[in-house]
Amino acid sequence: MNIAELESVARSLVPSGKGILAADESAPTIEKRFRSIRLPSTEENRRAYREVLFTTPGASDFISGVILFDETIRQKASDGTPFPVLLAEQGIVPGIKVDEGARPLAGFPGEKITEGLDGLRGRLAEYRELGARFAKWRAVLAIGEGTPTPYCLKANAHALARYAALCQEEGLVPIVEPEVLMDGSHAIERCEEATLAVLSLVYAELAAHRVHPEGTLLKPNMVLPGEECPRRAGVDEVARVTVRTLSRVVPPAVPGIVFLSGGQAPAQATAHLNAMNALGEHPWELSFSFGRALQDPVLKAWQGRPENVASARKAYHHRAMLNGAARGGKYSPEMESAS
Ligand code: 13P
Repeated sequence: MNIAELESVARSLVPSGKGILAADESAPTIEKRFRSIRLPSTEENRRAYREVLFTTPGASDFISGVILFDETIRQKASDGTPFPVLLAEQGIVPGIKVDEGARPLAGFPGEKITEGLDGLRGRLAEYRELGARFAKWRAVLAIGEGTPTPYCLKANAHALARYAALCQEEGLVPIVEPEVLMDGSHAIERCEEATLAVLSLVYAELAAHRVHPEGTLLKPNMVLPGEECPRRAGVDEVARVTVRTLSRVVPPAVPGIVFLSGGQAPAQATAHLNAMNALGEHPWELSFSFGRALQDPVLKAWQGRPENVASARKAYHHRAMLNGAARGGKYSPEMESAS
């Protein structure tokens, strides 16, 4: 294991003013996203869409890395340049989603375990060959009556740690993603409790698996009330509770925390990230690894039409710029309408 390289890649993903684009939607997920613009999910449409994102001029001013899906890391731009090469040429680090999805956890109705450990060592070696320098594995925890159970938390934390150890062995920086979903009507306090519980177990398992924290990144949910909870939380409350939760369990040795957006509206995710950074200095960089919060406006502008490529690129650049500003607590809602 080349520890110096792992540390340097991890740090290069969280420089000031930049964050990560999650463009690693699996086949069923991208199909769902394309359905919102009534576009069939063919291989060529998926390729063309990713090409719009990866060829946006100036995106690398705000984007440090891009997470790809297995199909995408093997695809090429129209001029024949493989996507990982196209990104690396712009100084953007290519990454890869390596989990194989969350499936029902046997014996625990309503709960899920993420699969994909079998054969992972071999797949990681291939992804590194293809240009990936970091990876992602997502565990999903749902808040419900009596859930998440301690067993589900432990099983997912264990899988995340096995994945992370294998990544570091293969020279890839693992992004560790335990996502507490915002589905439901629970109060923010329950999200705080579940997030604290899962992160405590994750860091215990990572240590037990001898994972080197300086060569990892954490991708957590923000601490939010459930989507259907009548008591909404203000931006400052979300920022304060999220940072408090993280500060209780995430070792300062971890270089960066890159939040997922989890279904928040794009401007809301940006405002939350901004408020956390505006709180002052933290032991880790607080950044983004957004999927929907970066891409929703792009898909809406693109609609699958070549004549819309310029406005789609503009929408992506704008959203990336706003999140780049939020990295330093320099975003304000008035910037949303400026182009
Ligand atoms: P969202 O930002 O849309 O939650 O996606 C991030 C991600 O990569 C989920 O695994």
